[in-house]
Amino acid sequence: MNTKVIRMDEGHIEEALLREAGEVLKRGGLVAFPTETVYGLGGDALNPDSSRRIYKAKGRPSDNPLIVHICRWEDIRQIVSGVTREAEKLAKAFWPGPLTMILPKSDRVPPETTGGLDTVAVRMPAHKVALKLIAYAGGFVAAPSANISGRPSPTLARYVEEDMGGRIDMVVDGGQVGIGLESTIIDMTVSPPQILRPGFITGQMLAQVLGEISEDDTILRDDGGQAPRAPGMKYRHYAPSGELTIVAGPADRVVEYINVQTAKAAAAGEKTGIIGTDEALSRYRADVVKSLGSRRDEESIARRLYRALREFDEEKVTRIYSESFQTEGFGQAIMNRLLKAAGHKVVNLEEEERK
Ligand code: TXA
Ligand code: MG
Repeated sequence: MNTKVIRMDEGHIEEALLREAGEVLKRGGLVAFPTETVYGLGGDALNPDSSRRIYKAKGRPSDNPLIVHICRWEDIRQIVSGVTREAEKLAKAFWPGPLTMILPKSDRVPPETTGGLDTVAVRMPAHKVALKLIAYAGGFVAAPSANISGRPSPTLARYVEEDMGGRIDMVVDGGQVGIGLESTIIDMTVSPPQILRPGFITGQMLAQVLGEISEDDTILRDDGGQAPRAPGMKYRHYAPSGELTIVAGPADRVVEYINVQTAKAAAAGEKTGIIGTDEALSRYRADVVKSLGSRRDEESIARRLYRALREFDEEKVTRIYSESFQTEGFGQAIMNRLLKAAGHKVVNLEEEERK
């Protein structure tokens, strides 16, 4: 299959091209598109064949449900049976935006889209290109992140082309995404509502609207066999090919420890990499040293994380060490993804000392 790539920024929307992309979706084809979080791999959410094609293109297990993207609040009533006051409040506060709600599904949503579940994940993205494309496609676009299953979600169209080129009909290139980590997922079918995947919309922001909320307790912990409640969170995700270890502790000790480890690994013939921040960058020694920005700028850290993981693959780095980040607020989403990428391999220097 020849994958057509079209370029389009939020500031310069070409209606004719987007209409064409919408037609491709209506006919059951697949179109990758930018959102404010990461690139999505879109298909018609109400067409079971489209959903099957999405799973195939991603190499994704078909028990892992898709998020249905909408562009108008009223449309939610067609795919959800029983929209609650709570859901409406969250939509008023955060849509369009990086929040996905799990709600009971209506009969219009085929089981192929929800991985056989009787609930459906719904989100209205805050991205003009995405919203228009969804409208042209008929209103309901199923879209997982546009990566091959297991790889970091794409934050640039180049990575979509790398993973999906030849497998899908079209890519809409909207440049670098804004947030860089996937949406927050909240399960509205339980009481109190439960966060299944942390994201830019934090627990604190959700609690301000809903009052009490809970969190899946595998968000920052190794699940140790316990299945997370969002089926997709159980897979070893976001992982670079190189072996990644997170190092936590006082800043100076972290730099020192990482430099000792990369020197050892280099001596053993490994190609070494470091994920650091601006504050310590000049002190690191490795084959490839990357900064995610200032430690004080979490939005920069989030936006650059997946790209850094992919670049280590491109550069064939075999051993990677990363700084650790605080887990309050948006930091919880950053550490959730980083811990998954590292398979929960963490060296805590303060604990090491006490031993
Ligand atoms: O930011 C995002 O959410 C991006 C962009 C493209 O919108 N999409 C995204 O989709 O991250 P995906 O498929 O990569 O992740 C969806 C997650 C998976 O972990 C899946 O298991 C979970 O949502 N999920 C979907 N439907 C669910 C349901 N009914 N119940 C529980 N978890 C669900
Ligand atoms: Mg994904």
